[in-house]
Amino acid sequence: MIPSQELKKTPQPYDRIFNFSAGPGSLPVEVLEQVRDELLNWHGTGMSVMEMSHRGKHYDGIHMEALANLRKLLGAPDDYQILMLQGGASLENALVPMNLSVEGKTPNYIDTGYWGHQSIKDAQKLGRVHIAYSSESTGFDRAPADSEPRFENPSYVYFTSNETVGGVDFLRDPKFDSDALIVCDASSNILSRKLDVTKYDVIFAGAQKNQGPAGITTLIVSPRAMEIAKSKDLPLMLSWPRAAEAHSIHNTPPTFIVYICGLYYKWLLAKGGVDAIAPYNERKAKLVYDQIDASGGFYKGHAVKENRSRMNITFKCPSPELDEKFLEDAKQLNMSTLKGHRSTGGIRASMYNAFPEEGAKLLAEFMADFAKRNG
Ligand SMILES: Cc1ncc(COP(=O)(O)O)c(C=O)c1O
Repeated sequence: MIPSQELKKTPQPYDRIFNFSAGPGSLPVEVLEQVRDELLNWHGTGMSVMEMSHRGKHYDGIHMEALANLRKLLGAPDDYQILMLQGGASLENALVPMNLSVEGKTPNYIDTGYWGHQSIKDAQKLGRVHIAYSSESTGFDRAPADSEPRFENPSYVYFTSNETVGGVDFLRDPKFDSDALIVCDASSNILSRKLDVTKYDVIFAGAQKNQGPAGITTLIVSPRAMEIAKSKDLPLMLSWPRAAEAHSIHNTPPTFIVYICGLYYKWLLAKGGVDAIAPYNERKAKLVYDQIDASGGFYKGHAVKENRSRMNITFKCPSPELDEKFLEDAKQLNMSTLKGHRSTGGIRASMYNAFPEEGAKLLAEFMADFAKRNG
């Protein structure tokens, strides 16, 4: 059965689809258009950004402006360092313990799902780790209250502010009962809502969801975290202080990616920054969660209501067969990449900053129609 006749494909510029991918995610059309227009000859230089020397003045301008605009968007104080590194967010699973471990203390982890789990596994290869909290017993469906984790002599406290696979978000700046360094993997919700940077020592995020294409990971590092990292003698590419000294041009950076992220930051600033995009993201997510709640149990949401992610909405239909049918029918309306993560199954609708509200509306209408036809 195909979706009801009232549901129409919503024409999108350049015949683009609604891309619900968990990452790389949708990019703003305006940014892609600018990249296209500037591709062959950037600002009269006679070359593309890809062909410029990373030590030349043109690229330096692009790079430093991107760093400054990211600082502005985050509201990060001047004494915090902003880094752009390679190796994906996954490399930080190793670099966090390498840069921040302290003898006689133990890294403490809060495990709220798939990505927290990956970080713990990597940290364990480098030393002892204490798991201060885990939501495994409830199927990784929630984040802890501030008082729940049980810390043990922490060198740092690590958590994932939004678990991309489960769709579980803290939705707040936690105030844990610890004065240790606070490290946050914000890969899937950075710049989607306001964070008080001063409450964190390290925030890191892969760019490919809310900042641009895959290829850089941005880090915001507090002075006290940088002091500890400075006491280590790490190889160039593993050392945060060495990256900071060189404004992340300690080797050849992925120049084209930094350029596109820079355009993305300008796009976001022109929209009014994080304060303006946060209610937009909340509105999009609410359209979909409302359908889950109104479906009389047809759709089962994964996260507890208090921790429902605005970026990754995860739910299941009454059977795996209906999940498959949901995905097939959705494709007919140009809605793609709604399949849940391979470890969970079900449906996952990821709607980052650049995902259009029309796509959320269409998904909500489709969900109501699908439940009616298959309930
Ligand atoms: C929360 C979170 N952390 C880490 C990662 C790993 O990112 P990367 O693929 O850039 O290593 C992801 C990827 O989806 C993620 O969602």
